[in-house]
This record gives sequence, C-alpha cells and structure tokens, in this order.
Amino acid sequence: MLKVIRTKNYDDMSRKAANIIAAQVILKSDSVLGLATGSTPVGLYRELIRGYENGDLDFSHVRTVNLDEYQGLPREHDQSYYYFMNENLFKHININLDQTHLPDGTNMDAEGECGRYHELIESMGGIDLQLLGIGNNGHIGFNEPADAFADHTHCIRLTESTIKANARFFASEADVPRYAYTMGIGEIMTAKKILIVASGKAKAPIIREMLNGPVTPQVPASVLRFHKDVVLVADEEALSLV
Ligand code: F6R
Repeated sequence: MLKVIRTKNYDDMSRKAANIIAAQVILKSDSVLGLATGSTPVGLYRELIRGYENGDLDFSHVRTVNLDEYQGLPREHDQSYYYFMNENLFKHININLDQTHLPDGTNMDAEGECGRYHELIESMGGIDLQLLGIGNNGHIGFNEPADAFADHTHCIRLTESTIKANARFFASEADVPRYAYTMGIGEIMTAKKILIVASGKAKAPIIREMLNGPVTPQVPASVLRFHKDVVLVADEEALSLV
C-alpha cells in the first residue's frame, strides 16, 4: 500500500520524513537503514542530526547501506556519495562507520563489486527501512527508465537527462561520471518499509506518473505501488498535479 503524506513545503517534508526514520531507530535500535543522497534528503538528515544532538536518537547500533555510488570517483571527491554521506550525516552522529556501506566506486571491476554489494545486503538480513528520492525521469537509485526492472546491484550508464540534472554539482557536464553502481529494483523492493521523499514543482509531473500512470520499468518508481508498505512524503508543489 502506498500512503501519501502532503506537507506544506520542504522543511515540513524534511521534519515529517525524519520523524518516520527516527521512529524506526527508536523502535529497533539495530535497524538496517537504506539511505539515499541527492538534494532532497539533506534537510531530513539535518533533522536526524538534531535528534541525535538532543538525545532522542542513538545510532550506535544502526547499520546502513546506500543505494548507489558513481563509478570512478575517489572517496574524497566532493561529489562522491561516500563524501556526501559523511558530510551530511555520518560525521555528525554516533554511528559506527564500519557499519555504514556504499558501493565502492573506486572498484572498476563492475561485476565483482555488484556481486559483493548484493551479498552484503543479504548478509545484513535485508533492509528495515529504505529511503528514496525520485529522479525527474522516475529513476530510483540509479535505476533509469528501461525495458525491464533490474533485480540486483548493477552498473548502469547514466541517461542524458540524469547527466544534465546532476551537472549542477560538477564544474561542467563533461565532468559528470557516465557510470554508476546502484542497488537493483529487486533489492529495493525487498526492504520491509520504503520512505520516498519529493519536493518542488519540477517533480510534479513524475509524481503524477508514479502514482497514476501504468506500473512500468519506463517509470521505475511506479513499481513501488506493488510494495506493501510505502510512504511518500511530498510537499504541495511536488503533489500539485495529483
Ligand atoms: C540518490 C539517488 C537518486 C536521487 C534522485 C533525486 O542516492 O539514488 O535516485 O534520489 O536523483 O535527486 P534529488 O533529491 O537531488 O532531486
């Protein structure tokens, strides 16, 4: 079942989504959290940091697996997702860094790295709560529109639309990596709960597609409608066409 929570704006979305993650961590202190990068979750990570600082949240037993990572960027590159997670969350909370995981973008052996990551997710006993953003083309993780839903972690070539959308973070469009490792739709769908966040007018058309269009790998996020426990927390602008 997909539940929609409509929020006033970005800050309201961030607080409400953070509260859902906070409840998960309070109820199960050794939760496995699936995490996302991108601009949408930054505010909710800030709220989680606040929750840690004021003593409500203890991350010492939490384990995390991130959705994706660019291939070929060193960890210290300020656009690597490894760097992003440290800057926006991990270094501000009491999480054990050994218990945080991302695909290793520096491993150029795609098959080996994807296999390792899939086994890692399995060995953690699955994901309790997976956080997702949504791309303007409906991608989740880096699962771009395609002819079929990918099952496991795999290496993808970014579409032109994603390269353009992400160019804002790099010196130029040419600097955006062309390949990335991403969890597959199958792995995402085995998470016990899924929380997807969206904000702003630019997301309105794809949110409409995701909620009301056909379930198709051409709109990867549409598959979430087949999951039994999904909540979309989105602001009024993102829901303006629904
Ligand atoms: C990030 C990720 C992507 C983003 C999506 C939306 O780990 O997997 O699918 O969630 O591109 O990005 P923003 O939030 O920047 O609009």
